[in-house]
Amino acid sequence: MQSSSIIIRGLGSYIPKKQLSNDDLAKIVDTSDEWIQTRTGIKTRHIASMEENPSDMGTQAAETAIKNAGLNKKDIDLLVVATMTPDLPFPSTACITQAKLGLRTIPAFDISAACSGFLYVLDTVYHLLRSGPYKNALVIGAEKMSSTLDWQDRTTCVLFGDAAGAAVLSKVDTPNVGILGSTLGADGTDPSILHMPAGGAACPASAESIEKRQHYLRMNGREVFRLAVRAMEQATRTILDQFDLKPEDIACIIPHQANVRIMQSLGKYLQVPEEKIFINLNKYGNTSAASIPVAITEAHKQGRIHPGDYVILVAFGAGLTWGATLIKWHS
Ligand code: ACO
Repeated sequence: MQSSSIIIRGLGSYIPKKQLSNDDLAKIVDTSDEWIQTRTGIKTRHIASMEENPSDMGTQAAETAIKNAGLNKKDIDLLVVATMTPDLPFPSTACITQAKLGLRTIPAFDISAACSGFLYVLDTVYHLLRSGPYKNALVIGAEKMSSTLDWQDRTTCVLFGDAAGAAVLSKVDTPNVGILGSTLGADGTDPSILHMPAGGAACPASAESIEKRQHYLRMNGREVFRLAVRAMEQATRTILDQFDLKPEDIACIIPHQANVRIMQSLGKYLQVPEEKIFINLNKYGNTSAASIPVAITEAHKQGRIHPGDYVILVAFGAGLTWGATLIKWHS
């Protein structure tokens, strides 16, 4: 038994003001509210303004998380951001966010694991807090997915939205609470399942890459769907087995919000009743690495998580990457 634990001490989220409904999208591409709702469960999503970057959204979410943790900015000694839509290729969005928040010159870096990014950050920071000199870490998932979308491609542009979520993780002297453990995985054998072909070192921007519309997200949706359900179920079972728990012991599952049918299938395979699966995808669409921290913030605010509850966070995304985190909510 470990004598200390890593808890989620404060949460915050930021949703940009501008809403884009399914009906709005039907004016841009050949789609309908009925198709989008039936196939995905999404009703609307929010789109950041031209001036609003992931660092700006992350800063807003972080201000709330630090306040809710009852801490001051000087108490934060580590900052990690999950994003697949960084403000710039470099420097990291974490460094830009550190300056915008007015934090000390603490270590700051990004993790890129697409929709699983926030769980990759949680596990990395969990181990850094356990073994390193840090006490309070700020972790952020921030995405401007709208900047990666081809607004002429109805198969992808209807699925995503912009947002940020943040959490303060703290080391406390109570044993066996907070983050109990995570399982992570990746399979990079076929990046083309979900990728952006150009803009990196392999294919820098050129007139040709722009003409071929290679700077947009491309996805084989049907394949991602099939793999996501399997990987999320497996990751959940792996982490439960590690702690000798069964799906029925879980009070709340917070899955990455990509498609309501993926979340329903996950519940069906795990034999968990629908009311235990937290869903807010209808309001925001898929916000990639922001979806889990935004969802925990809302689940907590709505009283869906209580002290002593076992909570599972589970995600799947480009890479391919996946992961699940088990939390015993602290009092
Ligand atoms: N409006 C109307 N029709 C559409 C639209 C649209 N927006 N998009 C596709 N269609 C059409 C297709 O062209 C196709 O038409 P056809 O039969 O004439 O060829 C038909 O609808 C069915 O298309 P499918 O792709 O088979 O539809 P499906 O039921 O699989 O739903 C979807 C597509 C929503 C993308 C689904 O596959 C999905 O959610 N996949 C998972 C996405 C995901 O989880 N991503 C997570 C990771 S994201 C990350 O890491 C960044």
